[in-house]
Amino acid sequence: MPEPLKNIKGTQDILFEDNNIWQYLELTIHKFLNKYGFSQIRTPIFENTNLFTRSIGTQTDIVSKEMYSWVDQGNNNLTLKPEATASVARSYIQHKLGKKNPINKLYYIDVLFRRERPQKGRFRQFNQFGVEAIGSKYPEQDAEIIALAYNFYKGLNIKNLTLKINSIGSPEVRIKYKEALKKYLIPYKDKLSKISQKRLETNPLRILDTKIDFELEIIKNIPPIIDFLNQSDKKHFSKVLELLDSLSIKYIVDNKLVRGLDYYCRTVFEIQSINLGSQDALCGGGRYDYLIEELGGKATPAFGFAAGIERLILALNEKELSLSKRPDIYIIITDDTYLSHSFKISESLRSKNLVVINDMLRRSLKSQMKDANRLNACYTIIIGEDEIKNDKIAIKNMDSGNQDYVSLNKIESYF
Ligand code: HAM
Repeated sequence: MPEPLKNIKGTQDILFEDNNIWQYLELTIHKFLNKYGFSQIRTPIFENTNLFTRSIGTQTDIVSKEMYSWVDQGNNNLTLKPEATASVARSYIQHKLGKKNPINKLYYIDVLFRRERPQKGRFRQFNQFGVEAIGSKYPEQDAEIIALAYNFYKGLNIKNLTLKINSIGSPEVRIKYKEALKKYLIPYKDKLSKISQKRLETNPLRILDTKIDFELEIIKNIPPIIDFLNQSDKKHFSKVLELLDSLSIKYIVDNKLVRGLDYYCRTVFEIQSINLGSQDALCGGGRYDYLIEELGGKATPAFGFAAGIERLILALNEKELSLSKRPDIYIIITDDTYLSHSFKISESLRSKNLVVINDMLRRSLKSQMKDANRLNACYTIIIGEDEIKNDKIAIKNMDSGNQDYVSLNKIESYF
């Protein structure tokens, strides 16, 4: 016998009732984002590799070591999407969405791929929902989306939320800041981990993301990036904070929050939950005013975020949502002579939006009854020789045990 195959590390099969929460969340996401005027965009699961190298940045973890890339039979360099913002920007430019509308508020529910080390809340194939508002340079756009993200989690009653926010300024500010950071960190170079020593040369901002205790000690007193912001960056950031204050949304200004993708400028944010353990980011995002231009479009400001759905499920208290699904009716037939009766009745009841189950294994009456109990059906309908002959069909309420008898053509109106 050949060895049975297994799924690939970092991917998962979502089976049976585990899908209830996914369906519930997908529906909730669509409804919630429509309330803010966002409309859905679906982009392909793979793109040209250079879309991601140009947008996310070659020195980032994602591009340097986590992408699933290959060369196809036509010699094209392709990559499974590691994130959706670059694809949305590509699509925005390609379809000239900016010409159709000065502001495009788009959202997605998407599957992404990153070859990270799998652990709780971290997968190699994972799902995100996210929004991208393309067109506004104003701080109210930042505040609207940060509040949207925060209220989404609040609405699902997720406790222990921390909103961290920072401004990483305009690109010229960041160039100056990287230099200052380098100057500060060079005396500690030998004490840094190998990876941070490399980052000191390539992308010193990434060192601020460290979770290693001795490095956290080293960066404790780094000069805050806020001190390097120019006047208009500062004004922008304080308006974002003022608007969040007006909604009584609590936040922490974290000057070490820099995010792991290169396209950001000005406001960046993350919402974390301590319920998640070490992979504590529920969502993250920020402003990316230069990405559209860098990808060949007309300079257009934008703001967005994305949220991991697996992490959302980990942080949720599913019990509070009571998502269990019960079939309304289980139709039991005493032998296959009555299949056409059960088929007809099932279809007429389903047309009334009822969930109806038929046995497909030609099981005994006792086994069908057992199956109806296993599925926790609300009602059973029993059809057999006597029932048809006397035109009296038994309908049993499985909770109370009460049984009614109705004629065949009255079943639909009974429910
Ligand atoms: P990101 O921070 O890379 O940002 O990912 C956003 C969220 O996706 C994370 O906060 C986390 O919840 C989830 N996530 C990321 N990687 C994994 C993984 N390996 N397994 C499970 N969940 C994961 C972005 O993707 C940006 N595109 C966000 C954005 C949109 N910025 C502007 N617009």
